[in-house]
Amino acid sequence: MPQVRPAVDDRGPVGKSILGGRAASGERKTRVSASGAPERKVEGRENSHFEGVAFEFIAGELGTPCYVYSSAAIREQYAHLAGALVGIDARLHYSVKANSSVAILAFLRELGAGLDIVSGGELYRALQAGYNGNAIVFSGVGKTQREMEEALRADVLLFNVESEQELHVLDGVAARLGRKAPVALRVNPEVLVDTPHPYTRTGEKGMKFGIPFDEALSVAKVAASLPHLELLGLDMHVGSQISQFAPYEVGLQRLLHLRGEIERETGVTLRYLDIGGGLAVAYDAAERAVDVSQFGKVIGALVGGSGLKIILEPGRFLVGNAGVLLTRVLYRKRSGGKEFIITDAGMTDLLRPSHYNAFHRIEAVRPSGRTTVADVVGPICESGDFLALDRQIDDAQPGDLLAVQSTGAYGFVMSSNYNSRPRPAEVLVDGDRFAVITARESYADLVRNEVPPSWRTSS
Ligand SMILES: Cc1ncc(COP(=O)(O)O)c(C=O)c1O
Repeated sequence: MPQVRPAVDDRGPVGKSILGGRAASGERKTRVSASGAPERKVEGRENSHFEGVAFEFIAGELGTPCYVYSSAAIREQYAHLAGALVGIDARLHYSVKANSSVAILAFLRELGAGLDIVSGGELYRALQAGYNGNAIVFSGVGKTQREMEEALRADVLLFNVESEQELHVLDGVAARLGRKAPVALRVNPEVLVDTPHPYTRTGEKGMKFGIPFDEALSVAKVAASLPHLELLGLDMHVGSQISQFAPYEVGLQRLLHLRGEIERETGVTLRYLDIGGGLAVAYDAAERAVDVSQFGKVIGALVGGSGLKIILEPGRFLVGNAGVLLTRVLYRKRSGGKEFIITDAGMTDLLRPSHYNAFHRIEAVRPSGRTTVADVVGPICESGDFLALDRQIDDAQPGDLLAVQSTGAYGFVMSSNYNSRPRPAEVLVDGDRFAVITARESYADLVRNEVPPSWRTSS
């Protein structure tokens, strides 16, 4: 630990320094499933359309870059996971951070989801999408008093509290409002977690997240003693893009043991066990998504008969493969013996390749039949602005439309206005109809909140 993922097929040197040496690549190798298991169809991934709506049509109507999501793919993933948990007293609380569009939240509410939020802004979105507070758990390592107050007024189901100091602050805020705050303690289970990038591990020893495991019992005693708190549960989140069961199993065993100690020593009866999110999707046919049926069995075997209500906080699993980012090729160029495909989307639209060295398949919407090996880069003035490096890809030419796959999670939500680039539009497809659920930003939007200083006579 940490483990390094096996190099697979035509990904290029994702995960290595872009400024250092390049792996000689471009040779397409045979795809091998990392698990050795038969490859399951990956939902929502299409080269040219979602459901009955063609990507070319959407791009023609709305321009690019543009995010497109498939309702059917989200529905399918939700049903898949919910089905795996049948027989367990569990509820899915979708993790808003993955994709916080109000339309997506409202759609998930209709499917039966609750929510996991991490900010006052996400609470605001949740309420806009029609959620009641009792469907919401409030996570986050740095909640402000204002956010606590807003969440208390909204009657959230649980505050997942991450430190003893936070307990005292929450107790004070609840006292001011004349309320009792419902609390679960987020405990760091201190398990080894294998994820594609270190930034997506949260449940290992020494992380900023959660209460250190060996302090959890004493913090629970504090929680039980504070007059404006009601200690109701325990919580963990081991990380993101996790396809193994071991971190969940070990973490859950630790939390169940801790629950026994807390109940014995405080006399409190706990009701909730929040096991967090993190379930992996396949970003590539050769990559392993979590086997949720098996996951359900593993969890069921551990918590069955515990009398606890289980909360899961999946984000990526529900929406990751339900989205594409449409982008047009602006230019081609050669430099230093390398090919570049310059697109109108870059790191301001999709940060994951640059921030996490994440892999996203990139498909030509109308394949030319020829391939090349190229860096797919955006227009932003950063050498780290890329969507793919040394990637075997369609020999796309200026004007061609590309679909960057599996961008439904941590795509638009991480976009920015760097280089004064308006953020892209978001579109939801449902059958043969589609709707713009977020309008493309305008130049006026970029300066909307800017105010000239009062001492200037002209702007
Ligand atoms: C507390 C918590 N819950 C849930 C999630 C969702 O993770 P994922 O999208 O991998 O399911 C995250 C992601 O960082 C998180 O921090």
